[in-house]
Amino acid sequence: NPPNPQMEGNPMLEQINCRAKGGSPGFKVAILGAAGGIGQPLAMLMKMNPLVSVLHLYDVVNAPGVTADISHMDTGAVVRGFLGAPQLEAALTGMELVIIPAGVPRKPGMTRDDLFKINAGIVKTLCEGVAKCCPNAIVNLISNPVNSTVPIAAEVFKKAGTYDPKKLLGVTMLDVVRANTFVAEVLGLDPRDVDVPVVGGHAGVTILPLLSQVKPPCSFTPEETEYLTKRIQDGGTEVVQAKAGAGSATLSMAYAAVKFADACLRGLRGDAGVVECAFVASQVTELPFFATKVRLGRTGAEEVYQLGPLNEYERAGLEEAKQELAVSIEKGVSFIKK
Ligand code: NAD
Ligand code: LMR
Repeated sequence: NPPNPQMEGNPMLEQINCRAKGGSPGFKVAILGAAGGIGQPLAMLMKMNPLVSVLHLYDVVNAPGVTADISHMDTGAVVRGFLGAPQLEAALTGMELVIIPAGVPRKPGMTRDDLFKINAGIVKTLCEGVAKCCPNAIVNLISNPVNSTVPIAAEVFKKAGTYDPKKLLGVTMLDVVRANTFVAEVLGLDPRDVDVPVVGGHAGVTILPLLSQVKPPCSFTPEETEYLTKRIQDGGTEVVQAKAGAGSATLSMAYAAVKFADACLRGLRGDAGVVECAFVASQVTELPFFATKVRLGRTGAEEVYQLGPLNEYERAGLEEAKQELAVSIEKGVSFIKK
């Protein structure tokens, strides 16, 4: 039996010859930025996920406190905390899924691109750690601006010789979660029964809900289409403004991140038909990265789905999305290349 990491260095447990035998079956997951607004509820929800056997919580502040707190939950996953750059490698070694919500959030009046200056460097450093310590792990990248941080991560992995496009996924799940909620409200349905594909990227006009492909099949008036598209595109800003300087979406994001991470783990386990939207390396458009539905399997995003038929409103939205996305992607690529 493997040693139980929670026992290590705890003299009281050693004294009483603790009979703990260590982890339940499941996957090893690390959260980088685990003490943050997203990180803490995300850590709690991942500790509740039966597919997780080991949960590593890394941050540059407060990781020990969050770890002590979460580790008292009577669920299967063994939790270990890691604080600061000297412990990054230990946090990452052996991990199968790495979720990254590290970085600064927006304040009112800022765009996600305004976060690039600080978050680009954070993502670069953390991804260098991934390339060195767990090059085969699936990476779920949450840190904004996702449209640029995913290309940054790809370039870091290419430089290290570890890049596998199937394993790098920008998390756009919150756009889908919001779209399902807002569309269900208009249709008078339970949001759990609604599926809205959201494609493109994760900022403003690059967030493109495909309302013509909503399941169950339905139709919207032009006013409803305009209202829903804008509300979904501005969902993040709605929360940033409501929080009035205290950050951006954290709780709904943790929910969305866990929904997405759980899909990745079910894919890793070999479940069939696991399909979610994500921002990935793509040949669906002329851009090198694009969010669409992907099929998650044992090796990550094993299939990237085409857009399907778009109506005129969506075709116009797609052109606008692509223009902004091209600039954001290039900004991320050149941050590493130059
Ligand atoms: P936060 O400030 O509450 O938490 C961020 C955490 O990252 C902090 O605990 C901080 O100490 C940590 N951190 C900073 N530098 C680090 C480093 N080098 N290594 C490890 N940890 C580090 O912010 P938040 O509200 O949790 O948001 C985090 C990020 O997620 C932001 O960039 C935000 O814009 C983004 N976000 C993305 C989505 C999405 O849909 N993809 C949704 C919401 C927020
Ligand atoms: C969101 O969509 O809520 C996040 O990207 C955070 C933000 O800055 O809006």
